Amino acid sequence: MAADLIDGKKLAADLRAEIAAGVAKLKAEKGVTPGLAVILVGDNPASVSYVTAKEKACAEAGMYSREIRLPAETPEADLLALIGELNADPAIHGILVQLPLPKGVSEKRVIDAIAAEKDVDGFTPVNVGKMLIGEECFLPCTPHGIVKLVQVTGMDLKGKHAVVIGRSNIVGKPVAVLLSRKDVNATVTMCHTGTKDLAAFTKTADVVVVAAGRPNTLTGDMLKPGAVVIDVGVNRVPDASKPKGYRLCGDADFASCSEVASAITPVPGGVGPMTITMLLWNTLEAACRAR
Ligand code: GUN
Repeated sequence: MAADLIDGKKLAADLRAEIAAGVAKLKAEKGVTPGLAVILVGDNPASVSYVTAKEKACAEAGMYSREIRLPAETPEADLLALIGELNADPAIHGILVQLPLPKGVSEKRVIDAIAAEKDVDGFTPVNVGKMLIGEECFLPCTPHGIVKLVQVTGMDLKGKHAVVIGRSNIVGKPVAVLLSRKDVNATVTMCHTGTKDLAAFTKTADVVVVAAGRPNTLTGDMLKPGAVVIDVGVNRVPDASKPKGYRLCGDADFASCSEVASAITPVPGGVGPMTITMLLWNTLEAACRAR
């Protein structure tokens, strides 16, 4: 069986058109342009390309984007002071600090410095806590996008078994929370590097979200026939035949998984476009709430 491709680009384009309409309406009715500040410290190549894509998407949606690129050796105190200024700036509704940060800068202190009402990544303790107890908040972008990607397959997740591989604060933990909330109602198992027999869990899963950061974490023989696979991994594998000298692959072995799954996200073109889309969604929401 060849799995259907879950087209993240198409879903993202549909949602971005809706967001752009929302931005135009907010400008026309209230004179407010949603503003996003994107801070990149250092020049990690993957982060540079994510940040560039975020800025482009922001402009295409009609939002104001302020790009702040700082050298890797920027002192933490300077970064905290900048976040303080952005917290107080009425033209900025959302603040995103691209992770990971260079060594010597505390991710925790930096995230804690972002005002919860401008935390469009949904990373601050206030927003994480609200998500956990089901209060209105900014949902983290990748997990929110993943739920939408599963839903677009038409699978009703109520009572289904979802296995999440990975327990990061950015993806694994929050996606497990969102999938188990009453509105989705899946039964969730979280697997990680301490899991003894990963395949024993994935073989009973209706949905597998793989966010392990390692290619070939999930292979077709580990799947139940008809499962939905959401691949969050973005790994660079050396490939001399490509102009850049590498190609991107996910955490799932696409060839074998697509023989067994009913639907699977490609890498690139699956989860990535949805992460950026949910960021725009949160930024529009932040601007709407700000007045
Ligand atoms: N690094 C990897 N993913 C993300 C994300 O969603 N937001 C931020 N700020 N940094 C990231």
